[in-house]
Amino acid sequence: MESLKIGNLTVKYPIIQGGMGVAISLSKLAAAVANQGGIGVISAAAIGMTEPGFERNFRKANQTALRKHIRLARDNSDGVIGVNLMVALSDYDDLLRVAIEEKADVVFLGAGLPLKMPDFVIEKGFENIHTKFIPKVSGAKAAKLIFQYWASKFGHVPDAVVVEGPKAGGHLGFKKAQLTDGQVDLADLITETVNEVKVFEEKFNRKIPVIAAGGIYTGADMHKIMQSGASGVKLGTRFVTTHECDADIEFKNSYINSKQEDITLVDSPVGLPGRVIDSDFVHRMKNGETKPFKCPWKCLKSCNFKEVPYCISEILHNSATGNLHEGFAFAGTNAYKATKIQSVKDVFAELVSEYKSVEKVFGQRRVKSTQLMSKMAV
Ligand SMILES: Cc1cc2nc3c(=O)[nH]c(=O)nc-3n(C[C@H](O)[C@H](O)[C@H](O)COP(=O)(O)O)c2cc1C
Repeated sequence: MESLKIGNLTVKYPIIQGGMGVAISLSKLAAAVANQGGIGVISAAAIGMTEPGFERNFRKANQTALRKHIRLARDNSDGVIGVNLMVALSDYDDLLRVAIEEKADVVFLGAGLPLKMPDFVIEKGFENIHTKFIPKVSGAKAAKLIFQYWASKFGHVPDAVVVEGPKAGGHLGFKKAQLTDGQVDLADLITETVNEVKVFEEKFNRKIPVIAAGGIYTGADMHKIMQSGASGVKLGTRFVTTHECDADIEFKNSYINSKQEDITLVDSPVGLPGRVIDSDFVHRMKNGETKPFKCPWKCLKSCNFKEVPYCISEILHNSATGNLHEGFAFAGTNAYKATKIQSVKDVFAELVSEYKSVEKVFGQRRVKSTQLMSKMAV
């Protein structure tokens, strides 16, 4: 298995743990993944909810908690640590600043197109910033838009790009119909994006890895998607059922106890579909029940907090802390495959060995077909 190279950064295994909010992937999971040679990612979304008294100053609590978790991850790992930031967050600029100040190795920028960059980034210059920038998109069109914009405005392009397909957990960048009709294939999205990005690789004379996410669960899945041109994979669901995942055991158990037909879609109040594990709470909300709340801080730019039926950050935080009666668990289509809680070390061992056995079969097939071709030529 080839290592993943993002500029001057080398990641032993091309395995990235997806940032999972609220408080599902914090420093514990991120450090564990980084220690195994992947990229461990802290989710910044509403991370301040893990701080006592966050209601009084949500913005400050977010920055304090993010800084704290980057430092904790660094204390517990010498590996590669990233931060997942949603462009849709109202304090996106503040949290990006913290990630850069704390020298996070990479930032993943999703839930919106990261076109504009805060002044402090432009003033400092990308080349003087340790942190690598990796947008998350749902296809080649969005990737092209971002790369073109950055190239013309900043004379610089992102260091890599994540393409997240329709099978992922969490908020999804597709229409609900596209999520159910089976027409969108991650492999096609990867091939198309690799082709778009090639133009910028040539123009800027550097490799720009395309990373695949959504529905990748085994080493065989990894191998398959990497045949389409992906240089790495980003897995969320698979890392939830680990000892090191920062969520409560009830959250992890909701995966273990789920069946395939329990993985369903909801209309999140932020205006995007979300994939979750079905529950009594999901039924109540689908039946029009509401969960009134006081908004301590309008955390998402797009949230119309006076109209929405519940606060997405609150209910995600409830589920992360084990209260699944008042929240739901985001999950990818593969969540039902979990049968036990494992260590991150075991997950890596399984992924790598499965990948290698598929690669071995491929290698043998390649040798056989080369031998056949040369026999035919004789
Ligand atoms: C529980 C959970 C929470 C997530 N939260 C976020 C989030 O806050 N922001 C984000 O950009 N992506 C989020 N994601 C998406 C992951 O970062 C990752 O891209 C995705 O899980 C990959 O698909 P997979 O779950 O099929 O492996 C979440 C996914 C899960 C399963």
